[in-house]
Amino acid sequence: MADFLISLPALEKNARLLHETGVRSGAKVLLALKAFSTTSAFGTIRPWCDGCCASGLYEARLAARHMGGHIAVFSPAYREEELQELLHIAHHIDFNSLPQWRRYREQCLAHPRYLSGELQFGLRVNPCHSTGHTALYDPCVPGSRLGIPPEQLADADLRGISGLHFHTLCEQGAEELIETFRAFEQHFGKLLATPEMRYINLGGGHWITKPYYNRGALVSLLQEIRSTYNVEVFLEPGEAWAIHTGVLRATVLDVFESLGYKHAILDVSASAHMPDVLEMPYRPDVFALHPGGADTPAVALPGEEYRKAGEAGELTHTYRLGAPTCLAGDVIGDFSFPSPLSPGDTIILDDMAHYTIVKTTHFNGVPHPSISLLHADGTRSTVCHLDYSDFEHRLG
Ligand SMILES: Cc1ncc(COP(=O)(O)O)c(C=O)c1O
Repeated sequence: MADFLISLPALEKNARLLHETGVRSGAKVLLALKAFSTTSAFGTIRPWCDGCCASGLYEARLAARHMGGHIAVFSPAYREEELQELLHIAHHIDFNSLPQWRRYREQCLAHPRYLSGELQFGLRVNPCHSTGHTALYDPCVPGSRLGIPPEQLADADLRGISGLHFHTLCEQGAEELIETFRAFEQHFGKLLATPEMRYINLGGGHWITKPYYNRGALVSLLQEIRSTYNVEVFLEPGEAWAIHTGVLRATVLDVFESLGYKHAILDVSASAHMPDVLEMPYRPDVFALHPGGADTPAVALPGEEYRKAGEAGELTHTYRLGAPTCLAGDVIGDFSFPSPLSPGDTIILDDMAHYTIVKTTHFNGVPHPSISLLHADGTRSTVCHLDYSDFEHRLG
């Protein structure tokens, strides 16, 4: 049975780094739940985390029930009943358009939690400055629906607004954030400097836990923003908390040749279990169990030895790794191995904790991988096992 395996020690390592960044800079560092929502692992993150970034009511409820701390919510649009509940549990609610803010403003400003200072409202703005290379993940593309463009705020009535929020980065460094912040300042710096402004949220996309990330430059920028504008500063990375903490362990179901290719069909699907492989698209690192192998995936089990798969043709046996679904393009990629694959072999797809587990579906009724935690003492516990009844019930 396929299994998402998440390492708690690896999560803690990332969490400590993010916490340290927050302590050094004075910024608050939130976990973006859209990237990682496995609540059974929250005990490892909680001591190092200032709270959560939620994309709407469900994630905000999850944050309130399982993490605690600060809850910052941003959604491109709120339903009336959703906002009613958010007013009770969120600390920041950021709006994506002036019409939505105007529609809800009077009820927001009359809420006891706003009047007591426990709850604040902000606007997501668009700094109109792209640093990314993939349009799918770039909120600054022409025609973007995400964030209010500068000209709309010029003479707007912003009574009740005390925060600004932007999110434009994706898997990027401190350099891209600095560049984006300078663009933000040109458009919105005067507004941020007004006495009404109490916070700025710099969104996610910061690859802070990558070994080469320039944390010193980030800390300097965050300190500069706090002292120049006298505002609280928030970061809400998702990926940085969970990168290099999880793998998807799959099993080879069949091996055959067709039209000049050797195919290995796995018990997992890119479309159903790793959609970013097709959407981004990207090629995950792949490992096979191999006695004497000296390579290590993000999560290694005691007693197992691994060999990293090569590019097609690099090692002796090349296979196209594919899914047990009807989708012709449901292929993880062409990889080569030092020895032939056989049914029953274990294949490890690396780095599958963030944006993977949260996006899975039951497409084609492929059994859903279980979710397990690897503890510091090397023991493993399964925290989620979905079966046929889950498949049947969620489809109505
Ligand atoms: C508003 C917002 N905040 C935070 C994040 C988290 O980004 P990442 O996981 O890339 O750090 C996202 C991701 O799309 C986002 O849209």
